[in-house]
Amino acid sequence: MHNLDLAAIQAEIEKVNSSVELEELRLKYLGRKGLIAQMMSIIPDLAPEERSQAGQEANALKNQITAFLRQKGSSLAGPEPKATADALDITMPGIAQELGQMHPITQVINEICDIFMRMGFSIVEGPEIETEFNNFTGLNIPLDHPSRDAFDTFYLRDTTKLLLRSHTSPVQIRAMKEKKPPLAVVVPGRVYRPDATDASHLFMFHQIEGFMVDKGIKFSDLKGMLEIFAKSVFGPDIKMRFRPHFFPFTEPSAEVDISCVICHGKGCSSCGRKGWLEILGSGMIHPNVFKHVGYDPKKYTGFAFGMGVERIAMLKYGINDIRLFCENDLRFLKQF
Ligand code: DAH
Repeated sequence: MHNLDLAAIQAEIEKVNSSVELEELRLKYLGRKGLIAQMMSIIPDLAPEERSQAGQEANALKNQITAFLRQKGSSLAGPEPKATADALDITMPGIAQELGQMHPITQVINEICDIFMRMGFSIVEGPEIETEFNNFTGLNIPLDHPSRDAFDTFYLRDTTKLLLRSHTSPVQIRAMKEKKPPLAVVVPGRVYRPDATDASHLFMFHQIEGFMVDKGIKFSDLKGMLEIFAKSVFGPDIKMRFRPHFFPFTEPSAEVDISCVICHGKGCSSCGRKGWLEILGSGMIHPNVFKHVGYDPKKYTGFAFGMGVERIAMLKYGINDIRLFCENDLRFLKQF
């Protein structure tokens, strides 16, 4: 019934040179007001017996025109481009990956542990929840010692027998109960004290404990090893001094100072004009400690030392506020 010439339409489509012209032809034939739509629209007015055939013809025509348009469309688009839009362009700059790094406290712990491992020490860790015995009694700390009261130690609820360890020294008791001498151990770990937070106090900080037990261990062994430690961490020009002190778990005891890292001993505001900075406590292990762990104090001697990691890190890097270590400020952390 239609009087459209299919060959003419095909020729018309073939002549097209651009996708704009092709779109015009698509609208002319297949658009909402195009010829096919017009053919469809008159079907309801036809005699009933003509309608089905008219519909089929219009559909067939539509399909053929669609095929011509599609064919022309792909020949206009040219051959498939080799690099499509979403293919990998290796000349584009990559997306930089943000790499994490060790926290400065972890770095200092690793550095100090490495120094002692090179001298034959092994690393031992202990639990942060400790018994009253390991934290105090086993270390010869008397019942009336101020560090035992609740202003200086976090006790767990409903018990005075369990607490958050206030130093890493209880691992001396654990390690010595577990192994017979010779023993050379360093213990890194968290410790807790109920201090108000300020520029030099946190209620959780880190310590590294070290101790060595064998027949014939002398104070000079302690001095030699601590000197190697201090010079590796703070540089070969640092000076050290041992100052007599008291700790219940060592006898004799000493605090160790290094020459001020800022003024090199002349005296400045960082060292309180003294020229020296305290870095750790140490001494020869008290015979009572050996008795608590079942070592014979006549047979064995040993030294021990303990230091605050945050303090060492602050002196090493010139950091003046301990709270910086727990603020997670990347501008601070990325400097290490
Ligand atoms: N435990 C002491 C503290 O927390 C530090 C210490 C001093 C540890 C002397 C020792 C030592 O092993 O011999 O202040």
